[in-house]
Amino acid sequence: MSRLVDVAGLQDVPPGTMHMVQVDDTDILLVNLDGTIRAVQGTCSHEYFELDRGFLTGDSVTCALHLSRFDLATGEALDPPAELPLQTYPVRVVDGRISLELPEGPVPVNQ
Ligand code: FES
Repeated sequence: MSRLVDVAGLQDVPPGTMHMVQVDDTDILLVNLDGTIRAVQGTCSHEYFELDRGFLTGDSVTCALHLSRFDLATGEALDPPAELPLQTYPVRVVDGRISLELPEGPVPVNQ
C-alpha cells in the first residue's frame, strides 16, 4: 500500500535548485534538474547531515560534510566515504503541485 503526499508547489523548486520538505518529521530533498523533479532522503546516508546544505553537481548532490556525491535518479553513492544509497521517492507533478508516492507508515530512509 502506498500513499500520495502533496509536498510543495512547482514554483517552490525552480530549475537548478533544491528545496527541503518534511513528511511526518522526515526530511526529503526535492531537486529540479532542468524541469525534472527528483526526491531523495534529505539527510546523508553516511552521517546525519542535511543535504540542502550541500550543492548540486550536475545530476548529483554533493554532501558538504565529507563530499560524497549521490546520483539523484538512483540515489547511488558515487564517492566514499558514503556507501549506502540515498532512498529515492517516486514523484508526480500535477497541475503545478509536487506529490510523492510513499509507503504507508514511516518514510523509508537509509542511514
Ligand atoms: S555526512 Fe555526508 S559524506 Fe559524510
